[in-house]
Amino acid sequence: MRPAADRGRVWQELEQLATFSDATPPAVTRIVFTEHDRRAREFFRSRCEAAGLAVRADAVGNTFARWQGTSPDLPAVATGSHIDAIPNAGRFDGTVGVFGGLEAVRALQAAGVRPRRSIDVIMFTSEEPTRFGLGCLGSRLLAGSIDATVGQTLRGAEGLTLDEARQAAGFSGSLDNVRLGAGAYAAFVELHIEQGPLLERAGDDIGIVTAIAAPASVRVFIEGQGGHAGAVLMPDRHDAFLAASEIALALEDAVRTLGSIDTVGTVGVCDVFPGAINSIPSRVRIEIDLRDVDEERRNRVWRHAEQAGALVAARRGVTVRSVIINMDPPATCAAAIVHAVSAACAARALQHQRMISRAYHDSLFMARVAPTGMIFIPCRDGVSHRPDEYADPDAIARGVEVLADTLATLAGEAS
Ligand code: GLV
Ligand code: MN
Ligand code: MN
Repeated sequence: MRPAADRGRVWQELEQLATFSDATPPAVTRIVFTEHDRRAREFFRSRCEAAGLAVRADAVGNTFARWQGTSPDLPAVATGSHIDAIPNAGRFDGTVGVFGGLEAVRALQAAGVRPRRSIDVIMFTSEEPTRFGLGCLGSRLLAGSIDATVGQTLRGAEGLTLDEARQAAGFSGSLDNVRLGAGAYAAFVELHIEQGPLLERAGDDIGIVTAIAAPASVRVFIEGQGGHAGAVLMPDRHDAFLAASEIALALEDAVRTLGSIDTVGTVGVCDVFPGAINSIPSRVRIEIDLRDVDEERRNRVWRHAEQAGALVAARRGVTVRSVIINMDPPATCAAAIVHAVSAACAARALQHQRMISRAYHDSLFMARVAPTGMIFIPCRDGVSHRPDEYADPDAIARGVEVLADTLATLAGEAS
């Protein structure tokens, strides 16, 4: 019997998950280690336990729900994603990969599959950078890309360090213990909404990800001179906000002139001090997000924007200091997984295309420790990171079924 997703069940779970939110519906805001994050975690755990999975969490709260295979000593196969949501987000980013991962396991169980390798559904902690400024916290730690020092060095805007916040949420022990041992997983596959319009435009059901673009984040501090907005004459000003604006525009220019269609740059954070209408901004912090599938090109664009920033600083008499938060390399998906997903699509006569992921995902880091692949499903108008983000229940069910087939192939069947 072929695994079949229970479309209504996973949809209902996604709906219920969306109620654990700090925003007014349909918007979802779910920041790591808040009360709503805690309740969402509890909900995931209870649904996994109801499916007979053994659940454990590590020191940063990455949660692993295991369906034991007939050869439990073999490296397991894993799927999963995240449940945290940026401010004013939607219901499907990440969550489809977590509850869809669980649904894939339930579909395999219902189909009578007995996997040889164990299958883990992983809920990664803080894929979004909202609270601690660094995305993919849980998967970075799993991959050993960062170490336990981040527990002390990363601090949320409300003042708690990562260590303080995770311990308050009930996750203790050294962050060094989060790191996966070599060969812990034989494969990792993440189901996710595309977050772009290409599948919908092509009328395709499934995107098979071949590579994940390389993300970078840079915090830029601009210091000028404050003063009275009425009294200081324009030629005498050293306005930090105007300098920041020029840097943002220089970034856009560098992306457009040196980049390709795959190069994107965004300034999504701008913090102006003292933030009073009648006071010239003396200090500004902006945060730059820059990505490309081509790491070298991304770095070239950044160097160019940085040089432009130095010119702006000299001309405006302000200081500019940049702190790189992350400059990650891209990831390539494993050929065997791309092949397994393609075969699943073909067997189910689903329209599919190969594509790159312009967004980052926990897969970017899992790819460092295990052969990794991603399955994309369409989302309406390609909208994501917005309250009107939407994925059709049938599209989710198709994604779950392709994931189930892929997991079955990767885990192997007991003889
Ligand atoms: C993930 O949310 C990303 O920003 O790509
Ligand atoms: Mn996201
Ligand atoms: Mn996501």
